[in-house]
Amino acid sequence: MGLVSAKEMLVKAHEGHYAVGQFNINNLEWTKEVLLAAQESNSPVILGVSEGAAKYMTGFKTVVGMVSAMVDSLNITVPVALHLDHGSYEGAKACIEAGFSSIMFDGSHYPFEENLAKSKEIIELCHAKNLSIECEVGSIGGEEDGIIGAGEVADANECKIIAELGVDMLAAGIGNIHGKYPENWTGLNFEALAAIEIATNGKPLVLHGGTGIPADQIAKAISLGVSKINVNTDLQLVFAAATREYVEAGKDLSGKGFDPRKLLAPGASAIRAKVNAMMAEFGSANKA
Ligand code: 13P
Repeated sequence: MGLVSAKEMLVKAHEGHYAVGQFNINNLEWTKEVLLAAQESNSPVILGVSEGAAKYMTGFKTVVGMVSAMVDSLNITVPVALHLDHGSYEGAKACIEAGFSSIMFDGSHYPFEENLAKSKEIIELCHAKNLSIECEVGSIGGEEDGIIGAGEVADANECKIIAELGVDMLAAGIGNIHGKYPENWTGLNFEALAAIEIATNGKPLVLHGGTGIPADQIAKAISLGVSKINVNTDLQLVFAAATREYVEAGKDLSGKGFDPRKLLAPGASAIRAKVNAMMAEFGSANKA
């Protein structure tokens, strides 16, 4: 199966009260392990690519080529969406052309009227090509790709207005933060989430900052309409920890342990294990 829009998998997730994971990829190893985990878990999957990560991988077209070819050569049969994460206005347009199957346009830093106008335009462009589209209201806190958000709680009425534009999934700030959660984090704001769920009338909602949210809060968020959960930092942490262990044990100094295929293997396995665990936690395993 080629790359698919995320629309159908998210409608099914919303109806079935589970969430599909968006796992952000950084390179070949990330892509391969997330795809293999999805196949092992028999789960739909969304590969997230930030503009920074795409630049690192030399561009949107490289990403599309690598992911499409890998789905084919690994015989991946579960639904796979390739999704631009926190796209700019220009980045979203470039990814529509480059062959992504799903787009996030993040206009949350614009004044609301401008976010609305730009979201409307990008939604139309995406739907003309059968791509799914995510927009954002109320910026998500923390730092991602050098962009620092203050961590807002989205206004339910603004969410309703953007939802009614026909967006396929909506990211709304509910006290969630990208990166590690600080010690004094007060948790997700479920009153805000419940109000947004009612205002948006069953639109699949997206929870960004999926790293480090306790399981009970994940479960409650899913019960209140979250159908997509974004995870990036967690995979970086497990990759780094496994690589550190390998090097600290001196394994790169023994035999051909310096071969990148050996050096990167423990980190790659750690990514696959983490993705499998999260697919079970989010309830998307066996929902392909
Ligand atoms: P984390 O890095 O906190 O897992 O957040 C990922 C994310 O929300 C990508 O959009």
